[in-house]
This record gives sequence, C-alpha cells and structure tokens, in this order.
Amino acid sequence: PATARATPDGDVAVGGVRLSDIAERYGSPVHVMDELDVRQRCREFRSAFPDAEIAYAGKAFLCRAMARWIAEEGLALDVCSAGELAVARSVRFPAERILMHGNGKTPEDLRAALSYGVSRIVLDCASEITRLAALVSADRPAQRVLIRVAPGVDGHTHPAVATGGEDQKFGFSLASGVAAEAVRRVLAQPGLVLTGLHCHIGSQITSVTAYQQAARRMADLLAAVQDEHGLVLPQLDLGGGFAVPYLRDQHGLDPLTLAEPLLTTLRSACEVRRVPMPRVTLEPGRAISARAGVTLYRVLGIKHTATGRVFVTVNGGMSDNPRPSLYGARYSMRLVGRHAVPGHRSVTVAGRHCEAGDVLVEDAELPADLRPGDLLASASTGAYHHSMASNYNLVPRPPVVGVRAGESRLLIRRETETDLLLRDVG
Ligand code: LLP
Repeated sequence: PATARATPDGDVAVGGVRLSDIAERYGSPVHVMDELDVRQRCREFRSAFPDAEIAYAGKAFLCRAMARWIAEEGLALDVCSAGELAVARSVRFPAERILMHGNGKTPEDLRAALSYGVSRIVLDCASEITRLAALVSADRPAQRVLIRVAPGVDGHTHPAVATGGEDQKFGFSLASGVAAEAVRRVLAQPGLVLTGLHCHIGSQITSVTAYQQAARRMADLLAAVQDEHGLVLPQLDLGGGFAVPYLRDQHGLDPLTLAEPLLTTLRSACEVRRVPMPRVTLEPGRAISARAGVTLYRVLGIKHTATGRVFVTVNGGMSDNPRPSLYGARYSMRLVGRHAVPGHRSVTVAGRHCEAGDVLVEDAELPADLRPGDLLASASTGAYHHSMASNYNLVPRPPVVGVRAGESRLLIRRETETDLLLRDVG
C-alpha cells in the first residue's frame, strides 16, 4: 500500500498502524485496507482521464466504507448484482452514478436496479432486452441502457478473465452483426433509451494496443449506428481490466501510460468515421483496490517433506485467497512483527484447507528462523480476495480492517460459527 513503512523493530506500519498491532487486536487472518491508497488510485484515474467517467468495479471489493470513499472521490460505481447494489444503496450512493452489469442479471437484479433508479443498465443478451423492457412500466421514465459488445479483441490474459474475444459468454458479437441487431432491438423498445456502447476486454491486461484496438472497433459500431439510425450515441464505456503488479518482476498498466495513446486513438478513429467523440467511461476494479490490501496470517506449523520441500502452514488459505488455485496467481509473503536472524530459504506457504492445491505461495523466500506463531503479510490483496472468499471447510471469513492516519477500524467483522449456523435451518 501507498502508506506502508518499515518500522525499526522489523514490523510494517500501514496507514500509520503497525500490522502486528492489527493482528493482535482483530485476530488473524485479517484483511487490511489502506484508505489513502484507494483514494490516491481514484485521483490518479481522474487526473489521467479528466473528461471521462471513472466507474469503480465493485466486484473487486465492496463494503459500505469502500462505497463511501468511491463516492467522495467523485467516481461512479459498477455493480453486477442486487447484493452489490444493496451496499451502494445503504450509503445512498448517487443512483445517477451507478451502472449495472452482468451476463445473467436475474429479474430481482433488474427490479432492484429499476427501483433504485440506477442511471444505466448494460444489456448483455437478446432476452434481457425484452425482459427489462417488460419491467419498465409505462408510467415511469424510460430506462437508459448501454449495449455490451464483444469486440473480438485478444487482451493476452488468463483464459478465465479474457472477455474480449468471440468465444466467451459476454456481450453481443461485433463481427457477426449481432451487436448491430441488438441496437435495432433496443431502439424498438419504447421503455428503453440507448445512451451508448460498452465493452470489457478482460482483466489484468498490460497491453495498451488491446485497448486501442477495442476503441477502434467500438468507433466502427458508433459510426454504423449513426449511419443506420441517424443516432449519435453520447457514451462509450471501454470497461476495466488495467493490470497491477503483484510482484516486483511484474508490470501493471497505469492510467497515465494508457490515457494519451488510448484517447488519441479514439479521437482519430471518431474523426475518420465522422462521429462525434463520445464521453468515455472506464471501469477499473483491481487498479483501484488491489494495492490497498494486505492480508495477515499466523504460521501454524512448518513441515519438511521427504522430497526436501518445506511447507509453512498458515491459518488461512484458498477460502480467503482463491486466486492462486484459480489462476495460478503469484503473491509475495513476508515476515512482519519482528526482525529475523539473517538467512532465507525457499518455502511453500500452504493454507489450512483440506486439499493439496491449497497453496498461497509456491516459492516464498522466508527467514530460516521462521517459527509457529510468526506473523506473515501478503501484499496486493485488496481486489478479488474478500469479494471471492468462501466458507470452504466451514471456515468463517476474515474481517476487513480499514487504516488511516494512525487509526484502524473494523469495516467488515469476522464471520463467526454462529453466522454459519444461522443459515443452516434444516
Ligand atoms: N467491468 C466489467 C464489466 C467487468 O466484468 C470487470 C471485471 C471490470 C470492469 C473490472 O475489471 P478489473 O479492472 O478489476 O480487472 N476474479 C478475477 C477477475 C475477474 C474480473 C471480472 N470482471 C481475478 O481475481 O483476477
């Protein structure tokens, strides 16, 4: 996180709060969120793209505090379920700044969006167009919508998070003319107003070229809509997906690097096709919240296998961080709370869950004198960790603690066994 500082006694402070104090006070495992880091990332996006709408993708991490920070920083919010919308609603996040996404929005999701009055719903399939139109009653203003387009762009990312190509579940295909047909269908619905187009080519993308290619293809469709219907669409949402580095040897895609080439490409593509430059929306999730997060674990045991591998078992695992097992994601792990005797060795940090694949870090360099009870910190855990957490093995989900200016406070409390039993009503 932006505010992380090593302390002289071998600890690390984030937001001015020592991590060992956090583990002491709130227990472990625990997710820590640096409020200032989140706010700084928001400001970086807003200053790199001063004319654009920046909509935080709540799926990366959402709770009331996060929604308030996002609202205060002037960002919009992308929600993809009635549940995410309920969090936004509970802090009165301005409906004018909310978009609803999803390839499988349920009638309940759509009703929740209509009842709160979210300003835009992003349509993803033909039946959704008619389903939404049927829900918009005659006595209310028409619902503004965008159409999600699959632009046929390869973002060169992990297949599980690649969404720009043709062979995946999201959006209306551009190349096959399905997207143009979706435009016709939406325009035929009196309860819907088409205000723009959307695409999202994937996640953890480092390539500027991929975004430029998407922008050009979307400009093609803007021009086709203008030619066919005489309609100028005011908004172009190019989605999120901007990569962040999880390790020192990895690259991210920061907003300043992207802004100039992307906007120049879009502007000239619009000029060539004789369509007015639309207002751009971007939807960063990970790039806003990932680096603000740190997760703390306690070492439970250290084991040497017959093959010479050293396993360090911690009190969390794939239930609080499923990303290594889902995407082969790599993380750092370091000792905090005390100085180590010099000397490191390569170990495998394993979780507590009952399967061999529950490994958090394959090749962590940790002190040779590591012992049970030591505190370990994993960085860049602010996106797609708490939001993807599970109760596997009926392990309660960890709390989220916010830190800022020397103070910590509980944002999401630790789940308890009572919470788990409450749902078990048989
Ligand atoms: N907009 C839309 C429509 C999306 O589907 C997503 C992410 C985003 C924006 C934000 O993408 P971001 O900027 O965070 O990359 N669980 C995976 C990531 C899944 C992303 C899904 N959609 C992971 O942990 O890597």
